[in-house]
Amino acid sequence: SKVRHFKWEVEYMFWSPDCVENVVIGINGQFPGPTIRARAGDTIHVELTSKLNTEGVVIHWHGIRQLGTPWADGTASISQCAINPGETFVYRFKVDRAGTYFYHGHYGMQRSAGLYGSLIVEVGEGEKEPFHYDGEFNLLLSDWWHNSVHDQELGLSSKPFRWIGEPQSLLINGRGQYNCSLAAAFSNSSTKQCELRGNEPCAPQILHLLPNKTYRLRIASTTALASLNLAISNHKMIVVEADGNYVQPFMVDDVDVYSGESYSVLISTDQDPSDNYWVSVGVRGRKPATPQALTILRYIPTSASKIPSLPPPVTPLWNDYNHSKSFSKKVLGLTGTVPKPPAHYERRIILLNTQNKIDGYTKWAINNVSLVLPTTPYLGSIKYGLKNGFDQKPSPENFPDDYDVMKPSVNPNSTTGNGVYTFELNTTVDVILQNANALAENVSEIHPWHLHGHDFWVLGYGEGRFRKEDEKRFNLKNPPYKNTGVIFPYGWTALRFVADNPGVWAFHCHIEPHLHMGMGVVFAEGVHRVGRIPTQALGCGVTAKKFIKPPHKS
Ligand code: C2O
Ligand code: CU
Repeated sequence: SKVRHFKWEVEYMFWSPDCVENVVIGINGQFPGPTIRARAGDTIHVELTSKLNTEGVVIHWHGIRQLGTPWADGTASISQCAINPGETFVYRFKVDRAGTYFYHGHYGMQRSAGLYGSLIVEVGEGEKEPFHYDGEFNLLLSDWWHNSVHDQELGLSSKPFRWIGEPQSLLINGRGQYNCSLAAAFSNSSTKQCELRGNEPCAPQILHLLPNKTYRLRIASTTALASLNLAISNHKMIVVEADGNYVQPFMVDDVDVYSGESYSVLISTDQDPSDNYWVSVGVRGRKPATPQALTILRYIPTSASKIPSLPPPVTPLWNDYNHSKSFSKKVLGLTGTVPKPPAHYERRIILLNTQNKIDGYTKWAINNVSLVLPTTPYLGSIKYGLKNGFDQKPSPENFPDDYDVMKPSVNPNSTTGNGVYTFELNTTVDVILQNANALAENVSEIHPWHLHGHDFWVLGYGEGRFRKEDEKRFNLKNPPYKNTGVIFPYGWTALRFVADNPGVWAFHCHIEPHLHMGMGVVFAEGVHRVGRIPTQALGCGVTAKKFIKPPHKS
């Protein structure tokens, strides 16, 4: 195994992700940031220098468990202090397991500003994937707004509340088309045909494939808001990986991808080789006001500029939740490659997801507490026993029995907080994510929950309020092992994980505005076992005083 060194500079730059000039956060002049490729067992060493002038920055390595390096998780206020303008911070951690991952900003709403990129881990030297393929492509999916994230953040925290609305564009590897369509010829709207030479930042990356081969597509979503669906005309897909773990292969026409999830699918290039085919990405779960993202699957030697003869596939209707549920339930762990869940839990916490008001501001809350991150990173506060770093009151583990999840809350007011759920090291924890009605009547949204530092087993999904009997239906045989799991409108999702990674870990909805509005909690376990935290990670809040030595008196 190797140490892979990277020197990165993060900065704002002008860019046209969807053919409209805008401002993005780039890395080394690139958007999305550079793709990291490594092998399982390698160490990644990123020297990150902030060239942002007026705000801090951190980078989170989504899906990497940070075993033994919780300070490298890149979550502001949790694992470290934000890196100040001009400063350099070193992220050094091991990628222990092959899979499709990505990285992104985890401070304010910087992910929405375009701070993200792919992180691909191949199997270790001499090892094999449990499936064969001849080549691979990487599709990092995101959504894009034309107004700045500062504008978005302000709107979300204003009274009256201003929602960010639907994205202007969907991007594939940071590329989309706003004012034109690649498939205008097939549409009956007045959108004009894109005239792109191919070297523009918004020109699609065409996938060049040879006939009669098998290709792996690595699909990951770092959207701020949109739940997505990807389909390819005339090609079935076999799903083989989810969030860095192998799944029991299953064949589908289209794949749902929620923010924070990744999948690998295999496709066979067994169609008419004299034609090209569309890859489309559309919105699920919210009434789409955003056109599909498109790119072309090109069969060599057909000309790359040949417009496919079939129209782009139409992704399923946004509110066809049965389609989404049936997809999610097909995702099962590949026996023998992922660990089996312990048969029983030792602790169970039930997390009610509600939309609330606090002094007239619109928020999301978990068991009626809306998360506001403290100024001192929890990792330092807990490790050094600094009790004024955050709320010492344990976080609520349940919600009232008479709460009706099908109706808007009778008393929608909640409070802010930043308490922690503390687990004894190696405890088996069940988390029941309970969805509910939002503030408005007959509205309940999708929330993809992401756990840092661990994978969890998704033991089951259900409708309405979780009941004690429901645990009899848990899948303990071959549940998928993932780091992001979705709750469907008015439903519940049951997760199980082992709290075996000393550190402090965020668990939150991966929808960026939802997290910003308080939709997250914090888990901690075995912090006394954490090794020496780099002092640079703790140079803020109450931990700063511990490390900044007074000047010498002579
Ligand atoms: Cu990819 Cu805490 O998120
Ligand atoms: Cu959410």
